[in-house]
Amino acid sequence: MDKDKKVAIVTGANGGVGLEVTKGLLKNGFHVVMACRNLEKANNAKEQILTDLSSSKLEVIPIDLSDFESIKTFAQEFKSKFQRLDMLVNNAGVLFNKPIKNRANIEMQFATNHLGHFLLTSLLIELMPDLKSSRVVSLSSLAHKKSEIFFDDINCDSQTKWDAPYAQSKLACLIFADELQRKLTLAGKKIISVSAHPGGTDSGLFEHMPPIFMSILRYTFVPIFLHSTKNAAKPVLKAALDSNVKGGEYFGPTGLFEMKGPPGIAKRTKYSQREDVAARLWNISEELIGSTFKVGSL
Ligand SMILES: NC(=O)c1ccc[n+]([C@@H]2O[C@H](COP(=O)([O-])OP(=O)(O)OC[C@H]3O[C@@H](n4cnc5c(N)ncnc54)[C@H](OP(=O)(O)O)[C@@H]3O)[C@@H](O)[C@H]2O)c1
Repeated sequence: MDKDKKVAIVTGANGGVGLEVTKGLLKNGFHVVMACRNLEKANNAKEQILTDLSSSKLEVIPIDLSDFESIKTFAQEFKSKFQRLDMLVNNAGVLFNKPIKNRANIEMQFATNHLGHFLLTSLLIELMPDLKSSRVVSLSSLAHKKSEIFFDDINCDSQTKWDAPYAQSKLACLIFADELQRKLTLAGKKIISVSAHPGGTDSGLFEHMPPIFMSILRYTFVPIFLHSTKNAAKPVLKAALDSNVKGGEYFGPTGLFEMKGPPGIAKRTKYSQREDVAARLWNISEELIGSTFKVGSL
């Protein structure tokens, strides 16, 4: 491989927003690693991308973000192939309409959307050159506004709203991005941590929703309120590539109800900015992954 080419990882790159982010990074000259669970889908997506962008440097490395061992194996394989990582886009996500736990008995959305990326970042950040262009981009959601972190009920066993675990997990992604930035600043690093949300887009995220519910939405809500996955990827690509971006910023669509429209600074709750909550979330995340996350020498 060209050792001067910048290297990016996009998790969940085989469809939806992740696929569009992958294309955007390739067009900007990155060598992209698609970190994917479904390899058949990932290889099909790779072939499709290479027919349009034939000179791209693109490869697939398997990962299951709900499984800590799989994440460690991914990190080892990545480190055996690459000496540097310039961009980590923590995009993969799941939305379930019923309670499911991972092998470690942790609620699946918190495990995949937040803890999996927390562990992955902790294993790879040492490969990032200390430059402002080196970035960790975390994907949050408008759903973060509906939640707090249920420290005494992290698996959401006692929550009554069906989407409480998803909302908590996406809030955790946003808080993680900020806390990582605070730690990078304290460690005197130039690498930045930013976050973004895609607004609303009709992607694979809704595959576990009742089909009849989705059919109705597709004739009513979707055409008016949601945008294409290509447009939904724009805030993520802005967070990743815009040279004016500062650590800790949060991007999203700025149009109708923040569901669609041109990318810009996104709105967020006061709760999501609480440093005491962020410190507590970091500690509980370390406990749950069973290792510490060191940033620089801190
Ligand atoms: N769509 C929206 O309206 C919306 C709104 C707000 C935020 N978001 C966020 O945007 C991000 C992208 O979602 P999307 O809309 O593009 O959904 P999507 O089309 O379902 O894509 C999600 C990706 O994550 C992957 N993934 C899921 N579980 C995984 C696991 N355990 N290990 C590895 N990869 C896994 C999926 O892979 P598989 O093919 O293997 O399932 C898929 O590639 C997510 O973080 C989501 O929370 C989306």
